[in-house]
Amino acid sequence: MDAAILRLASSCSRAPLDVSYAAKAFATIEFLRHLRRHPIGVDVCSMGELVTAERAGISAQRLTLHGAGKTDDELRAACDGRVGFIAVDGLEELRRLDALARDGCGARILLRLNLGIDARTHAFVRTGGDDTKFGIPARDEAAALAILRDCPQLHFAGLHAHVGSQIFDAEPYVETAAALMDAAVRAVRAELVAERVVIGGGFGVATSFDSRGSFDVSAAIGAVDRYVAQRAREAELAPIRLGIEPGRAIVAEAGTTLYRVLAIKRQSQRTFVVVDGGIAENPRPALYGARYEVVTVAPSAGDEVEVTLCGRSCENDELGTARLAQNLRSGDLLAMRATGAYTYSMAGNYNRFPRPAVVGVAGGLHWPLARRESIDDVLASDDVGEPVELESGRRPAAF
Ligand SMILES: Cc1ncc(COP(=O)(O)O)c(C=O)c1O
Repeated sequence: MDAAILRLASSCSRAPLDVSYAAKAFATIEFLRHLRRHPIGVDVCSMGELVTAERAGISAQRLTLHGAGKTDDELRAACDGRVGFIAVDGLEELRRLDALARDGCGARILLRLNLGIDARTHAFVRTGGDDTKFGIPARDEAAALAILRDCPQLHFAGLHAHVGSQIFDAEPYVETAAALMDAAVRAVRAELVAERVVIGGGFGVATSFDSRGSFDVSAAIGAVDRYVAQRAREAELAPIRLGIEPGRAIVAEAGTTLYRVLAIKRQSQRTFVVVDGGIAENPRPALYGARYEVVTVAPSAGDEVEVTLCGRSCENDELGTARLAQNLRSGDLLAMRATGAYTYSMAGNYNRFPRPAVVGVAGGLHWPLARRESIDDVLASDDVGEPVELESGRRPAAF
């Protein structure tokens, strides 16, 4: 993970690249404390992610608040300067922010545009096409720029787009940068200066279901950066900084999930290996067919057979196929590779399974990033208090 950050951060020769880690990929307080040593920012898209970053000691200036639908509390946090930037996702949100920012807005504003660019990735991780909920559509852009021009308490910082995840070529990024630079030129006509354009994250990691070969992310970012500099010169704009928001490209390969084999079931057509996890701590295989490489931790000698790996939940939660030792036994350990992104962060408590521990390993040390949940942790929200008469107008304590 540290090496991935350094590689990404040094992709631009021209000027420092603004790298902002997308906390949705994986975030715990201890993990963000580790990340804090790098000179990069963090994107948060909920109060939970924001407070995690705050408790990790990441300064507000390094935080960007995202979200397709933000609560008043989140908008207030932006007004109060708990984040350096807010990526405004819609015209209505901008009006709500304006209304809440009567005493000023501490966060500077990025307009997240929906550029209608289709990154040709899996429908579940496509966030940029014009048939998605994300970003400000072209028809609202002028009105958003006019609000920013006319509201002195709102400070425009630049333009943003994120067109999807698991992207394996440079083209959608260059297309995105071109569209954002066009918007930067239109912003100047509205008397607004874009200091930065952010092309989002989504840099593909060639380890899971939708990989399409290798992708030189640094070369792609370098090309986009040169393009942005040249367009700014041609259009006589002030120098514009380039920003990226990788999540998966920073943490995916750093993570390995360890599963204990609970049962091996030779059914009529397939052999199922049931492990002590599944859809609860890694919903991606069930959600959109994500696939991972799986190996036995201490490979046993002998022939390998194809098996279907399953979770233990009361769903058909297949995790994919693997070639594993024929003499595999319950109790053996399996390692699923490149699970650092969007697994633990998407985990829930289906079947009331406690979430597993997460352990960091670096520089000859290993230390907990997340504590293993206990049954009491899972049951904590069952502590609901006494019933209240409907007609009393009072709320039950737990609401
Ligand atoms: C706005 C935004 N930025 C960055 C990311 C990170 O994407 P990835 O983890 O694929 O790099 C996402 C993911 O959904 C996102 O929505």
